[in-house]
Amino acid sequence: IDELLAEGVAGKRVFVRADLNVPLDGTKITDDGRIRAVAPTIAKLAAEGARVIVASHLGRPKGAPDPAFSLAPAAARLGEILGQDVAFATDTVGESARSTVDALTDGKVAVIENLRFNAGETAKDDAERGAFADELASLADLYVGDGFGAVHRKHASVFDLPARLPHAAGDLIATEVGVLKKLTENVKRPYVVVLGGAKVSDKLGVIDHLLEKADKILVGGGMAYTFLKAQGHEVGISLLQEDQVPVVLEYLARAEKKGVEFVLPVDVLVSPEFPDLKGKAPAHPDTVAADAIPADQEGLDIGPRTRELYAAKIADAGTVFWNGPMGVFEHPDYAGGTAAVAQGLLDSDAFTVVGGGDSAAAVRILGFDENAFGHISTGGGASLEYLEGKTLPGLAALED
Ligand code: 3PG
Repeated sequence: IDELLAEGVAGKRVFVRADLNVPLDGTKITDDGRIRAVAPTIAKLAAEGARVIVASHLGRPKGAPDPAFSLAPAAARLGEILGQDVAFATDTVGESARSTVDALTDGKVAVIENLRFNAGETAKDDAERGAFADELASLADLYVGDGFGAVHRKHASVFDLPARLPHAAGDLIATEVGVLKKLTENVKRPYVVVLGGAKVSDKLGVIDHLLEKADKILVGGGMAYTFLKAQGHEVGISLLQEDQVPVVLEYLARAEKKGVEFVLPVDVLVSPEFPDLKGKAPAHPDTVAADAIPADQEGLDIGPRTRELYAAKIADAGTVFWNGPMGVFEHPDYAGGTAAVAQGLLDSDAFTVVGGGDSAAAVRILGFDENAFGHISTGGGASLEYLEGKTLPGLAALED
């Protein structure tokens, strides 16, 4: 972005592709981390006199306007963070977007509505995506890619639009890539990875990669139950991906050959029913050994002995990468495992990276000081795919 600034952006319409895909409770933003992370890039452009058009997706609307996925709350929050009025266009490339952009003066910022309200944004068909990118391009003179959380998506605003305008990477993308690179080259050992989240199928690529790189992989969250099942334990009514059991068995065998230690929960919190996440009624879970989950119970968090075990492994690490919560952290009775891992990272002298929308949000929602961690990534899928060594469309488009 500095090269772009050196050439002068005053009076230019600069399209900033951000990732403002923040968690919402109705219209209330429950974690604004992604907005705060991209705000410096926007502020920098505005300070140089650019007319800044901020664009993003939010959630997964079906290619048509849907008020439940409006970016209006994110635009309002961006205005608060920047300390200036931010205009909001109620469409993406229609009348509202055009008149809002036309009304921008130097140093002012506008947000256009959710890009995914237009089917062209996510279309598989190159021509359909290209047509939408052409319309977006007509709004702007320059493009800045800074939506790190979305760089793994081959979407019109991420992949096709930069080819149509002079472009640069923003500071957030530069920082994210710099940190993740450290996890792929010359890692300080032991390299401990904590993986959680619901589904093991979302993590297959990254586990493949980590079997070549990591020293220890600590497993929690919903995906742990598929590992426990693969080890021959019954998991009651816990989340289980039966079809992934053979894959997990193969990973466990490969890990043993390579000297990578897989660490699984030794105890878990269980309940016969999923907790009430809205009213947060007390759940009264039981703690059981991980190899003795009753048939009618569901595992919803790692237990106290597992928390201690994981904290000890994290304490001895040189580098820690953490992706995915350890339990249903949205309910206070099942937040303890995720909080213990976060605290473990803080207490460790290791270089610590929190990757992943959910774990990053969990850290902040549970009240931890985000600045105390080495780095909290704004990318969930994006950081995993980066570590897998995949070509990320949104980075490739900025590289030429
Ligand atoms: C994310 O939350 O990981 C990014 O914003 C991308 O969202 P998506 O998975 O809906 O493409």
